[in-house]
Amino acid sequence: MRVFDTHSVEQTVDLGETLAAEVKAGDVVCLHGNLGAGKTALVTGLARGLKAERAVSSPTFTLINEYPGPQPVYHFDLYRLNHPAELEDIGCDEYFYGTGVSVVEWAEKAPQLMPPIRWDITLEIVGDSDRRITVLTPR
Ligand SMILES: Nc1ncnc2c1ncn2[C@@H]1O[C@H](COP(=O)(O)OP(=O)(O)OP(=O)(O)O)[C@@H](O)[C@H]1O
Ligand SMILES: [Mg+2]
Repeated sequence: MRVFDTHSVEQTVDLGETLAAEVKAGDVVCLHGNLGAGKTALVTGLARGLKAERAVSSPTFTLINEYPGPQPVYHFDLYRLNHPAELEDIGCDEYFYGTGVSVVEWAEKAPQLMPPIRWDITLEIVGDSDRRITVLTPR
């Protein structure tokens, strides 16, 4: 387990970019943390580090945004998920157990559908511009 403290949104984006170097094809990265904790900022950095070709934007009306690149990045946001079955219905296993990289905001909305081997990254708000980010890697 590693703990990082960031003091600006840019530092959180940079952390995501740094962590991307450790992300392998097929990985699932689960993000935990309250509204405004910085999950999407971290995804922005991860996508940048993974050389995704499209700017990150939160999937608001869909559950998932796909960013093409050397390995596709699937950006899930489960905030609006009413029931885990909705995620199952869109065929999440195809994404989670495929060769792209899946990044899941609000993963705790469907914990039973998250693969057992995964990243767990928790972001805590500790000040106006301070975040504590705890990283558990799958290996
Ligand atoms: N150290 C920091 N790291 C990341 N964001 C920060 C930091 N300090 C302040 N912020 C602010 O916190 C907000 C983080 O927004 P972001 O959309 O990344 O959060 P989120 O966890 O994805 O929220 P949501 O649950 O709504 O999707 C932004 O407004 C950003 O400017
Ligand atoms: Mg977000």
